[in-house]
Parts: sequence; structure tokens; C-alpha cells
Amino acid sequence: MFPLVFYFGVLLIITITIWFYNWRNPRCNGVLPPGSMGWPLLGETLQFFSPNTSSDIPPFVKDRMKRYGPIFKTSLVGRPIIVSTDADLNYFIFQQEGQSFQSWYPDTFTEIFGRQNVGSLHGFMYKYLKNMVLNLFGPESLKKMLPEVEQASNRNLRRWSTQGIVDVKESTAQMIFDLTAKKLISYDSEKSPENLRENFVAFIQGLISFPLDIPGTAYHKCLQGRKKAMKMLKNMLQERREKPRKIQSDFFDYVLEELQREDTVLTEAIALDLMFVLLFASFETTSLAITSAMKFLVDHPLVLKQLTEEHEAIIKRREIPDSGVTWNEYKSMKFTFQVINETVRLANIVPGIFRKALREIKFKGYTIPAGWAVMVCPPAVHLNPTRYRDPLDFNPWRWEARIDTNGASRNFMAFGGGMRFCVGTDFTKVQMAVFLHCLVTKYKWKAVKGGDILRTPGLQFPKGFHVHISEKEN
Ligand code: HEM
Repeated sequence: MFPLVFYFGVLLIITITIWFYNWRNPRCNGVLPPGSMGWPLLGETLQFFSPNTSSDIPPFVKDRMKRYGPIFKTSLVGRPIIVSTDADLNYFIFQQEGQSFQSWYPDTFTEIFGRQNVGSLHGFMYKYLKNMVLNLFGPESLKKMLPEVEQASNRNLRRWSTQGIVDVKESTAQMIFDLTAKKLISYDSEKSPENLRENFVAFIQGLISFPLDIPGTAYHKCLQGRKKAMKMLKNMLQERREKPRKIQSDFFDYVLEELQREDTVLTEAIALDLMFVLLFASFETTSLAITSAMKFLVDHPLVLKQLTEEHEAIIKRREIPDSGVTWNEYKSMKFTFQVINETVRLANIVPGIFRKALREIKFKGYTIPAGWAVMVCPPAVHLNPTRYRDPLDFNPWRWEARIDTNGASRNFMAFGGGMRFCVGTDFTKVQMAVFLHCLVTKYKWKAVKGGDILRTPGLQFPKGFHVHISEKEN
């Protein structure tokens, strides 16, 4: 007779083996894409977050593409996930939003951005919010913003040129945050006793991270930042409620008016979550894009030359040289848009777009089980079919013959695709184009320090990008 503990031990080993087997071989009614589910619970999370400095497809994805093909399975932060780098499947997923797939983000993301953030809402409520944002950042609104963006760019560039050396990443982040915060909530960082922006540090690392809420982790920092920022936003909204303005001038006024309507679907919590998302989404992404653009331009003098010529020509055509950028001038900046597209293509600021399968999907012989998450990876870096071969080369001319430079396409999805195509695309383009206009016509700059990128997998400039900016002599 063996002691009871022996039987218990055997039973435990059998249970763990079955569990391990089931983990590695998830159930499916068809053929799951190839790939490894990694270790139980941990999956392949550590490999996924392992930092890299490449501008190519992330090594995690590239290695597996080589081994398994463009569609593979894995497990990240405790969830089975299908990774798609297949242009056809990506396109299908975007087109099927709300039918076969819906927007879904890991818990870390929803805890930080709020459970009612725009990316996690669906159906009617989503459409309502999207319209609100489109009103705010749509063409009519952007036309009015043009002078503000130009003044802010000129003001900041002048200041930076007197400082000598500036960290472009930090300085553009502050500039864009100030612009957006003014538009949304009339926040003025120079007049406010509290620094709203400092609550958004560590977000890029924390958004899609391991959900460990303990001091020292990026996730913990993000949650603390969220708490403080939400408290500030709530207080500001309350103050505005007590002292309403006569003329509606910012997003707070608009929200308060909406909240007073009897038939409204908007709640204060949803409005605050939206404000929080917009504040973050606008400054972090655009400042990364501007920093990348300035770095690429330093390394590619021919691109800088053509860009400068485009902007100098705009000024030459004016009756009054410093009369300010008009909407028509903005729309005419053809080469600038090519530079912007090429910058966001290579910067790959959003390295993965998440969705959930609402039903079982069969695609190219594989089955994606209902309920599984899907990570759509931009194949943009690799699959831009063009006569310019090297996809890692910064080459705005590759966009010359393309008619779809304004929207998403099968091969370019830096701003997403389908129904959830980024609502801030035009806002970003206005800010980048106008900033570049002011920069290249009046200033020259030289890289001094930093500028190295790190992806975890979100893009970062861990040591910033320090440049010496000075006025051009003419
Ligand atoms: C270089 C700049 C930017 C990049 C690369 C970028 C990228 C993206 C991507 C890839 C998506 C799709 C996410 C998905 O499908 O789940 C998205 C959605 C979104 N973006 Fe941007 N974005 C940028 C700038 C902005 C700005 C300036 C704003 C703020 C005004 C903004 C606000 C949003 C919002 C609210 C969504 C969610 C839209 C939805 O769910 O329908 N983005 N962005």
C-alpha cells in the first residue's frame, strides 16, 4: 500500500499534465493557425515585451512569421491570441467591425483608459461619441484651429532657438498637450497650479503591459496617473458647472450642455473617460511622429531640401509673406503629406490593433474560434508594394504614385482601418504640416544627443532627441 500522499501526488501530476496539454493545444472546431502558446498563464508575454531597437517588423512577430507564416497563434497577458500580418485578413477584420469582430483591448488598457473609453464602446454609444469627436476634430474645426497651431509652433520654435539645445520629444509633447488641453478644457499649463501632463508619463509602456499593479511597474504608474488626472478633470468640470460660460468655447461647455439635455445618452463618467483618452491620444502620438520626422529629416538632406522648397514656394506665392497658412495652402502641401505618411509608416507608433472574434471565423484554411482575441499587426513596414524596394528606407517619394495617401489601405494602416479609423488623423496632419512649415522656412537644426528608438513594443525615445535649433540667416 502506498501512502495517500503518493496517490495525491500522482493525481496532481496528471491534472497538471492535462492542463498543460490543453493549454498548449486549445480546443477548436477546425484548424487553428500554427504557433506556440508558450508557458501556462505567462504564454509568450515576456518575448513579446522584450525591448528592441528595430524599425522593421517587431522581432517577436518577424521570427514567428518566418516559422509559421503570416497568421499564427500565441498567448499574451493570459489570453490566447491570433496574430495577423496577413493583409487580406487584416482588411477583412477591419471591414467586419461590429459583425464578426469588435474592438477589444487587454485589461491593462481598459483599466488605464477607463471601462467606458471610446475603444471599448460599441453600437449606438460608440457612434454617438465618434460623432462628438469628429465635430471637435473635423475639417470645419481644424480650419479654425490653423492659426492657433501656427502661432503655437512659431512661439515654441522661437523659444527653443533661444535655449540652444532642446529635447524635441519632450518639447513637442508639451506644445501639443497645451494645444489640445486648451481646445478641450481651456487648460493653461502656465497658469495652472497643478501639472496635468505629468500624470501621463509611462503610458506607452503601461498600456499593453503585464497587469502587475505594484509600485515600480509601468502599469502601476499609469493607474496612479489616471487617478490623479481624472480627479483634476472632474474638479475642472465641476468648477465649470458652477460657473458656466456665456459662449460655448471648448469641449467642457459642449459636454455640460449635452449633460443637461433630458434625452441625452451621455454620462459624466463617459465624458471624462473620453476627455482623458483624447488628451493622451493626441499629444503622445503626434509628438512621437514629429520627433521621428525631425530625426528622419536630419538623416535625409534631399528630403529636407524638397520639403523646404515646397514651403518656401507657398510663402513666395503670397501677397503678404507672413500672412499665415490658409486652408488652401495647407491642402496644397503634397510633398509634406508624403513625408508625414512615410514618417508614420516607419515610426509604427501603434504596433498592434486589438479585436475580438464575435463568432467562429474561417479564413485561408484556418479557424479563429469565437471569443479569441486577434492582434492586427501593420504589415506596412514590409508590404508597401512600390518600385522603391527597401522597406526600411525613409523614402517619401514612394508615396508619389499613390492615390490613397489620405486613408487606410491594405498596406498602410498606421492610423488603423475600417470603421475605427483614427479620428485624430487630420488633427495630427494639420499639426505636423503646420509645424514643419514653420520649422523648415525659418529654422535649421542639428542633432546633438539621443534620438535612439526603443520599442517595448510601443515606440519610445528613452534618451529623448536633443537638437540645436537656430534661426536661418537671410
Ligand atoms: C501619429 C498620430 C496618430 C496615430 C499613429 C494614431 C493611430 C491610431 C490607430 C492605429 C487607431 C485605431 C485603433 C483601433 O482600431 O483599435 C486610432 C484610433 C483612435 N485615435 Fe489615433 N492616432 C494618432 C493620433 C490621434 C490623435 C491626435 C487623436 C486625438 C484627437 C487620436 C484619437 C484616436 C481615437 C479617439 C481613436 C479611437 C477611434 C475609434 O475607436 O473609432 N489619435 N489611432
